Formats: sequence, structure tokens, C-alpha cells
Amino acid sequence: MESTAHTEAIKARIDSERVPQHVAIIMDGNGRWAEQHGEPRISGHMNGVTGVREALTGASEIGVRWLTLYAFSTENWNRPQAEVSALLRSSVRLRAIGDVESLPENCRQTLEDAMARTAGNTRITLTLALSYSARWEITRMAQRMAADAKAGTLNPAAVDEQAVAERLATAGMPDPELLIRTSGEQRISNFLLWQIAYAELWFTPVLWPDFRKEHLFQAVLDYQGRERRFGKTSQQVTTR
Ligand code: IPE
Ligand code: IPE
Ligand code: MG
Repeated sequence: MESTAHTEAIKARIDSERVPQHVAIIMDGNGRWAEQHGEPRISGHMNGVTGVREALTGASEIGVRWLTLYAFSTENWNRPQAEVSALLRSSVRLRAIGDVESLPENCRQTLEDAMARTAGNTRITLTLALSYSARWEITRMAQRMAADAKAGTLNPAAVDEQAVAERLATAGMPDPELLIRTSGEQRISNFLLWQIAYAELWFTPVLWPDFRKEHLFQAVLDYQGRERRFGKTSQQVTTR
């Protein structure tokens, strides 16, 4: 995973004071990558691990504190059984959001072992969204809210944004400032709908197995060149 001069040059232009603390990525294009290489789809998922490694090391190098990767969606359960198994095997570590209970037992065990082993690490939190979808998460939040109201521990009139956020799977995590999607698709596919309310979006035609640190650095650099207005006027944002 050596860095080329080109990668280092992009990295050097990043303002270390304004690195997003949370980057979320919709990793897409494994199947097309495999097709281009004349290999079965599963080979694309195996090679996607390179993209994960690159994104993780790159993010850690520039000081990103939270990295959330969309690894497997609720809708991905509809893919052929063999592909589902392969996708779940090639997953990585630390934290998970999603309907983890529905994962195969061995997969859940591996995940829990990895989370327990890495629980003390503090440099970067890698969160895998597994059997995750934003609508699943929001529906579950509503169930929790209703149950709390019924139990008398929550006053409906007191429900605010914080009450919502703390019942989502991402409770305690900052919202992503930057959302990346690979493979040229420009859609959200049911990922983090609440949390990306004001995220900057960055799309690239690069297929996920070809994703390298340079792409992450370029995304962060472009992010730093954008004006985040949060509903204000440009003038209000630039005059402090
Ligand atoms: C991303 O690659 C992996 C997951 C969605 C789980 P795809 O498998 O979606 O690849 P394409 O979109 O078919 O190329
Ligand atoms: C989105 O990719 C889900 C993940 C990256 C896990 P998909 O490839 O499943 O999304 P669609 O079907 O193209 O929207
Ligand atoms: Mg896809």
C-alpha cells in the first residue's frame, strides 16, 4: 500500500485543521469490476477489501475520526445466496450498525470477536453498516419512541431532534460531514438518511476495488473547497 508521489501531493494540500471528523462511504461497483476482469462477482467483493484497507489507512493518516462503510444493505439480502455469503465473509472490524441479529451465527460471532478485540482502540472508529437501511433504522427508532411513551418515560411533547438521534443506530456518533459513493451511481440507496441532512456529497466513477487513498484525499480536498452554508447566506458564512 505504498503511496505514490501523486497521492502524497494531494494529501499535502489538505488543511489538517478542517478534516471532516466523520466520512461515510457507499462502496459500490464490485460486480462491475469483476465483470471487467472476466471474473465472477464474488471476486469483486474479495478485491473490494483493498478499497476498505485504502480508505481506512488514508482516513487514519489525515486524522478522520469516524469512518462508516456501507457494506451490506437490507435490500442486498435479495441477492443470490452464494453472493450474500461471500459479501458477509469479506467484512472487516470494530463497530457495526444494522440488523446484526439477522446475520448468520458464525458471521455474528466473528464480528463480535473483532469488536471486542478492537474495543480499546481510539484513533479511528470503523463502523460497518451490515444488514442496514435507513428506513429500518428510522422504523426501529419510532418503535422505541412509542414504547418509551407508553412506558411513561418519554413525554410526546418533549420529543426533539436529540430524542430521535439517540434512538438511532448511530447514537453517540457525529453526523458525517462527507459522503462518498463510488461506481458512478448518484443515489443514496437507503443509507443514513437522517444523518446526512447536511453532508457534502462526492461521487466518483471509480469502482470500489480500485478505490485508493488518493481518491479519499481528493474527496476531502474537494470538501474543503466547498462552502457549507447550513441555510445561511454566503455572506453570513464568510464574515465571522
Ligand atoms: C458493492 O458492489 C457491494 C455491495 C453492494 C454489497 P456491488 O456488488 O453492488 O457491485 P455492482 O453495483 O453490481 O457493480
Ligand atoms: C448500495 O449498493 C448498498 C451498499 C453499498 C451496501 P447497491 O449496489 O446495493 O445499491 P443499488 O441497488 O445500486 O441502489
Ligand atoms: Mg451496486
